[in-house]
Amino acid sequence: MTDHAVMDELKTLVDPGKVLTDPASLEAYGKDWTKHYPPAPSAIVLPKSIEQVQAIVAWANRHRIALVPSGGRTGLSGAAVAAHGEVVVAFDAMNRILDFNPFDRTVVCQPGVITRQLQQFAEEQGLYYPVDFASSGSSQIGGNIGTNAGGIKVIRYGMTRNWVAGLKVVTGKGELLELNRDLIKNATGYDLRQLFIGAEGTLGFVVEATMRLERAPRNLTAMVLGTPDFDSIMPVLHAFQNKLDLTAFEFFSDKGLARILARGDVPAPFDSACPFYALLEFEASTEQVAEQALATFEHCVEQGWVLDGVMSQSETQLRNLWKLREYLSETISHWTPYKNDISVTVSKVPAFLRDIDAVVAEHYPHYEVVWYGHIGDGNLHLNILKPEHLDKDTFFASCARVNKWVFEIVERYNGSISAEHGVGMTKRDYLGYSRSAQEIACMKAIKAVFDPNGIMNPGKIFAPE
Ligand code: MLT
Ligand code: ZN
Repeated sequence: MTDHAVMDELKTLVDPGKVLTDPASLEAYGKDWTKHYPPAPSAIVLPKSIEQVQAIVAWANRHRIALVPSGGRTGLSGAAVAAHGEVVVAFDAMNRILDFNPFDRTVVCQPGVITRQLQQFAEEQGLYYPVDFASSGSSQIGGNIGTNAGGIKVIRYGMTRNWVAGLKVVTGKGELLELNRDLIKNATGYDLRQLFIGAEGTLGFVVEATMRLERAPRNLTAMVLGTPDFDSIMPVLHAFQNKLDLTAFEFFSDKGLARILARGDVPAPFDSACPFYALLEFEASTEQVAEQALATFEHCVEQGWVLDGVMSQSETQLRNLWKLREYLSETISHWTPYKNDISVTVSKVPAFLRDIDAVVAEHYPHYEVVWYGHIGDGNLHLNILKPEHLDKDTFFASCARVNKWVFEIVERYNGSISAEHGVGMTKRDYLGYSRSAQEIACMKAIKAVFDPNGIMNPGKIFAPE
């Protein structure tokens, strides 16, 4: 069959006009937010049903064509990039909420449901979908499941994995599997659902997901606290965790704050300038909780861990304080940063950050480093901004050296090279820093079970052999 005939066959499997090959679509659907890899898919296909997804996978197996799943394309690891002539399977046309069960507090979603759509749906029911991050306005549930997305509320609610009650997946063989039947308790052997969560589309495609909802939080209140140094942040976390149930504990550096304030659309939290800032959030459900928070703040000031602070008094103030943290990623994207999303256990964070900071400062004294992250769960984001005069390729080549040093430290601290963004292409060569050779061999064997022809998102998680 000619290439042309193969593509014509694909067109018969979906609705008219749902195979795109125009240059603008290939460019738009072939990449994610990493922007490191020039997109080069051969076509984009937009199925609208599970049957159509199965037909596409069967077609890809017949012709040995690689498929790349595509959601909101907000990923930061290149997992949804099609750089080698793959066919992109985009889930934009499977974007409906199919069912809601108020008793079980579950929502059945197609994979293309936008995260915010689910959050708003939950709110309309008086409930809450707690997985949240800056890209929730465009990321899709299927993609969140594919990367086991984390975000800003993990300290209280955990990762996406915790909210998936059941899954329907089309495996690389084209089989439809229904996993876990939405049950809370199910002790019938291997939980295959968990294998597909965080698999980055390398085993199969999520075609339906039953997501759990939670009771809505009461009177969320945020505090931003300025600290004299990084080491003071940890005792502050400890002090607040001893007194309150935190829903978030984030941090950012003065350099990050400076970039945010330079935008001109976010108010400064307070007048004093501090080297580091912690943003914490809790439910001020009673007067006593708010008083406890203030008493803890005063204790932290007395100990010298906090120099200044502010507590939100309204929804608007809460939102404005969150902007200081949530706008960081998008704001610094202007400087094409080298990014990563490393993690260690929380108690090791101060020593870990100090070691990495020292290595970066020693080798790159002239680069601007912006630290921020979800420090309450041990996940730090190291961002190195590209100097204006350096071209992108030279900058990223020098950052490949940073990767090695940073990941050696991660390995030494028994941490993870990817806490929440996934391995994709950016970290596939470094997987061995977080996973043993035996583990990687098991992972590859599992892939071979579900995807014997290697058509599902090849070259992601594992380097091509
Ligand atoms: C964040 O925490 O803001 C996101 O993970 C994105 C990023 O790391 O820039
Ligand atoms: Zn993050």
